[in-house]
Amino acid sequence: MSIDVVDRSTSARSDAGPVLQIEGLSVDFVTDHGWTRVVDGIDLSIPAGSVVGVVGESGSGKTVTSLAVMGLLPGATSRVSGSIRVAGRELVGMSNRELAEVRGAEVSMIFQEPRRSLDPAFTVGSQIAEVVRRHEGVDRKAAWKRAVEMLDAVGIADATRRAHAYPHEFSGGMCQRVMLAIAMVCRPKLLIADEPTTALDVTVQAQMLDLMRDVQQQVDVSILFITHDLGVVAQMCDVVNVMYAGQVIESAPVESLFLSPQHPYTQGLLDAIPDHRDRLTPLKSIPGAVPAPWDWPQSCRFAPRCPHAGPECEAASIPLSSIAPADSLHAVRCVRANDLFLEGITG
Ligand SMILES: Nc1ncnc2c1ncn2[C@@H]1O[C@H](COP(=O)(O)OP(=O)(O)OP(=O)(O)O)[C@@H](O)[C@H]1O
Ligand SMILES: [Mg+2]
Repeated sequence: MSIDVVDRSTSARSDAGPVLQIEGLSVDFVTDHGWTRVVDGIDLSIPAGSVVGVVGESGSGKTVTSLAVMGLLPGATSRVSGSIRVAGRELVGMSNRELAEVRGAEVSMIFQEPRRSLDPAFTVGSQIAEVVRRHEGVDRKAAWKRAVEMLDAVGIADATRRAHAYPHEFSGGMCQRVMLAIAMVCRPKLLIADEPTTALDVTVQAQMLDLMRDVQQQVDVSILFITHDLGVVAQMCDVVNVMYAGQVIESAPVESLFLSPQHPYTQGLLDAIPDHRDRLTPLKSIPGAVPAPWDWPQSCRFAPRCPHAGPECEAASIPLSSIAPADSLHAVRCVRANDLFLEGITG
């Protein structure tokens, strides 16, 4: 493995309560198979000032979880249950009007495809200023001034002039900076970043990650960082939640997860990271794919792909449990975790 975990242990502040507290979050959609659960009992907490990652394969429920927090799931064809609290305020059950107040002011989001989130018909400056005017009720001139300051803060050179440009005049990396400016201009408590660097080339990706870390430390914001890239997790996150088939299957401080992965799926993800210094060892992959939600097993959902599965893995639903008593912050959803650790198969 060729990943260095960045020590961010001093960046999180433990004195304040959680900015985001998700308990028992489930999401069901109407599908051709009837109502189908795609996110199943997620518990997740983000302390003030920290960056919490969610990592997992395509279809594991990362985006649906973040859209539930934003209140952006389609009302008629989805059902959300459980609890989502932002700075202590319950969002589940809020009216659309109340949720619209929360979005932008308290919680904001940046997406994978910045260009699709920007309106091609308006200048970048006016799109930032519009958010300021909507949430803070200031006049046009003051909002424009804030927009230019924010463009400057996210590293757009010559911001006074560039604020008049349209999105098509910006590169993908610059559009993502504009999205970050829109997301941060009202100083939200929580920023949700869903694969914010996936569409960018590696050097621009590194600049964007640096910028997000700077912004996170300067502005008092906590981040829910969604990615499928464990390298990005190692650089950005304090804590990481690994999702598989709608459930969190392992949750740990980032160093513990990389040094001592407990779930065979997490181990598989780490083994699948290419090492550019090793050209001889063939790349490893996890055989098979995440099953469709209507085919999820009732017991361990990873068992059909797991090289270490035994009869006990198919017996009952499996809780997420601390790897007690050694580490109460590190939890895993695997009945064989202890055996695999003792056999030296996991860390
Ligand atoms: N509006 C919807 N209606 C029905 N099913 C949906 C809807 N949106 C998402 N799903 C299903 O929910 C599951 C989780 O999707 P989600 O987009 O959260 O995955 P993801 O982990 O973000 O994947 P990716 O890495 O590809 O972005 C998938 O099976 C998806 O098909
Ligand atoms: Mg997604």
